Amino acid sequence: VKIPSEKECYRLIAKMQMFEHIVMHSEQVKNVACFLSDRLLAAEIALNLDLVRAGALLHDITKTRSFRTGENHAETGAELMLSLGYPEVGNVIGQHVKLTSFEPDSFPTEAELVNYADKRVLHDKVVSFDTRMAYILDHYGKTPEHRQRLLSLYEESKYLEGKIFGYLDFKPDQLADCL
Ligand SMILES: [Fe+2]
Repeated sequence: VKIPSEKECYRLIAKMQMFEHIVMHSEQVKNVACFLSDRLLAAEIALNLDLVRAGALLHDITKTRSFRTGENHAETGAELMLSLGYPEVGNVIGQHVKLTSFEPDSFPTEAELVNYADKRVLHDKVVSFDTRMAYILDHYGKTPEHRQRLLSLYEESKYLEGKIFGYLDFKPDQLADCL
């Protein structure tokens, strides 16, 4: 599995001219995802920490451009990383909005950790999952169809939260204090 180093990630971030606030958001998602992964590793869950780190840092790599183009940034971020020779990182990025392969009973995966961490960070602050979800509904739930899709996403993410924390010795609302 080929993973870009942190230096390479930042080179790409500069090249894609990411907005500073999106870089700050991505760094906080990385902090959350890596912290949770560390604790899961300690609980003997097999995870590739470098994959989590790069996937989290780069999850919004094409988002700045998407404001101009209207592209689906999860999809194009995945394609970009694939074209650069990092398919595994692309796979994580491609699933950061919605998981394509959520298996309720499997061990937590790198893609799930990045997906969940993104739902705990509003701008660059760690917030509750409900707070983040209320923001997403407010900003992206423009039509009844959109709201319906977001609510089913909410259900899935809520389940994912339970699955991840099932292996940890602290509660979701203690996360901000643990970091
Ligand atoms: Fe995103």
